[in-house]
Amino acid sequence: MTILVTGGAGFIGSNFVLDWLASPEYRDEPVINLDALTYAGNLENLKALQGDARHIFVKGDICDRALIDRLLAEHKPRAIVHFAAESHVDRSISGPGAFMKTNVEGTFTLLEAARAYWSALAEDAKQAFRFHHVSTDEVYGSLKADDPPFAETNPYEPNSPYSASKAASDHLVRAWHHTYGLPVLTTNCSNNYGPYHFPEKLIPLMIVNALAGKPLPVYGDGQQIRDWLYVKDHASAIRTVLAGGRVGEVYNVGGWNEMANIDIVKTVCALLDELRPSAGGPYARLITYVKDRPGHDRRYAIDARKIERELGWRPAETFATGIRKTVQWYLDNPEWVSHVQSGSYRDWVSQQYGS
Ligand code: NAD
Ligand code: TYD
Repeated sequence: MTILVTGGAGFIGSNFVLDWLASPEYRDEPVINLDALTYAGNLENLKALQGDARHIFVKGDICDRALIDRLLAEHKPRAIVHFAAESHVDRSISGPGAFMKTNVEGTFTLLEAARAYWSALAEDAKQAFRFHHVSTDEVYGSLKADDPPFAETNPYEPNSPYSASKAASDHLVRAWHHTYGLPVLTTNCSNNYGPYHFPEKLIPLMIVNALAGKPLPVYGDGQQIRDWLYVKDHASAIRTVLAGGRVGEVYNVGGWNEMANIDIVKTVCALLDELRPSAGGPYARLITYVKDRPGHDRRYAIDARKIERELGWRPAETFATGIRKTVQWYLDNPEWVSHVQSGSYRDWVSQQYGS
């Protein structure tokens, strides 16, 4: 058996692939990894799999129907796990086109290829096949301070070009199940953090900027709330849903850990003060409030009771354990950080924050 992963060179996808091939259940099940290697795709994340025949990397676009058809025919996967996306809200504000192309058209192309492949499978393989769509809690919009967390039944109210494009992809996945019977699963997860996180997102940006003695840009008043989940817990949730989730169902995935951005930044600073003290004084001195993100969602929170009730999944890490591992990982991997920084990341940072 084999699975096809899209976007497996990105942050979550690479953690998923590494954990999949290290797990006792799936270590003998090869991964075909289709990734376009955009600025966010980084083969260094997968260095540990160099020369490993269980990992077949294919550089390509999920909008390329002929390529996907060929990969499906050649490798006959029993599942597709779909991570590939444009994923950064700020980039979606300054350039939404790529988000529509990859997140909407790419998902459509993948669904159509999957449908053609699945329709032609023998009955047993057809029954077993799954299309797992990896999505975000941002499709549900923004919560008020006293609203209950997002349940799977919440209406979709996406507010950014990114979340609108992910909402569109979720709707396509739902429709391909409803209309064509394609056996889909969807997970909507909260903010991830952990190893291999590209330093344009809040937590890795704060770590690498602090270490470089640069300002730590906090948008607006810093009181926006997100739920944070350690990336390896997200990978385990996807494995759990893929193995036992009910076809056509949506599962929300979260860390039961709502925190305001400013508290995240202060936690990162305190850990760095402990693990890599700066001669210049506490890292919190670098915190700088900057202009808010347009349309900035105030609060996300996830009700993850369904995945726990039906499938017995809960996160293994608390925020305290996960963030400590994450900060330590960045300290232990300066080469990864410097390679990322020498690429297009630089251009993005100067465009976003000025030189
Ligand atoms: P990422 O930006 O780090 O990685 C995306 C990967 O997709 C990259 O390797 C990139 O090269 C690849 N890619 C982009 N366009 C492609 C295309 N057209 N064809 C093939 N590959 C392409 O993203 P991530 O943070 O790892 O997120 C992965 C998925 O999880 C996304 O679908 C995202 O919406 C979802 N998600 C992310 C979070 C989060 O906190 N990061 C939370 C919930 C859900
Ligand atoms: P981000 O990591 O971009 O994830 P998302 O927007 O998908 O939740 O941002 C997390 C939060 O941190 C969000 O409220 C925006 C905020 N933020 C900052 O305050 N400063 C920054 O430099 C970045 C990148 C994000």
